[in-house]
Amino acid sequence: MADAVIEIQGLEFAYPDGRKALLGVDLTVHTGERVALLGANGAGKSTLLLQLIGILKSQKGSIRVCGLELTRKNVRDLRRKLGLVFQIPDDQLFCTSLYDDVAFGPRNLGVPEKEVTSRVQKALRDVGLAGFEDRMAFHLSPGEKKRASIATVLSMNAECLALDEPTSMLDPRARREIGELLKSLSQTQLIVTHDLDLARNACTRAVIMDAGRVVADGVVAELLDDKALLERHGLA
Ligand SMILES: Nc1ncnc2c1ncn2[C@@H]1O[C@H](COP(=O)(O)OP(=O)(O)O)[C@@H](O)[C@H]1O
Ligand SMILES: [Mg+2]
Repeated sequence: MADAVIEIQGLEFAYPDGRKALLGVDLTVHTGERVALLGANGAGKSTLLLQLIGILKSQKGSIRVCGLELTRKNVRDLRRKLGLVFQIPDDQLFCTSLYDDVAFGPRNLGVPEKEVTSRVQKALRDVGLAGFEDRMAFHLSPGEKKRASIATVLSMNAECLALDEPTSMLDPRARREIGELLKSLSQTQLIVTHDLDLARNACTRAVIMDAGRVVADGVVAELLDDKALLERHGLA
């Protein structure tokens, strides 16, 4: 078995209002996998992603990324290894040009501008937005915005990407393009999605969450062909 990139053990989390969102999540993602994380609304998927980059702090359990345990001290180091693509592109794109948006992360780490430039160009090329440096996210189509937000994490040279519903709000063609893009990237990926076509086409493995727990984990096609399983967990 390949090395573990993400290792989550016994993760529990309750929001300040007392709502328990995670009730003991165990999940390991290995190098090169593209894992679809499925689950009905409220299952705890977004909460889990926010824990992965230390925006929310769990009350119990542990998270390791590339062997590095998430602690208050090494949150910044961990964010270099794992890039989170938010569901809403406007949370990720807030500068007056795509160049600045994609340069934001590396500049923040003190990367010299010359290297920033080459990273921005490569990231935009990788997502099919070469030549868009001077464009402003505000004027892009939803599909282009999504690809631009993926570029903002690629420029960080992260080894692992976590994406929160990357095809929500996109039309069928843009959804397919995102699927193709994700397949073309070499990074390990954890993809939260309600888009079962995306899961089937772009992922090698699927994990289903329900009410704060992982309830199924296996080969994508096997899980998606199990109608009773999908119905039981609000996915069909
Ligand atoms: N900021 C918050 N405060 C309180 N409860 C929240 C907050 N965000 C999410 N929740 C609750 O936590 C649970 C998991 O939510 P979430 O992680 O957003 O689920 P998903 O992404 O799978 O739809 C839900 O019951 C939701 O209502
Ligand atoms: Mg969510």
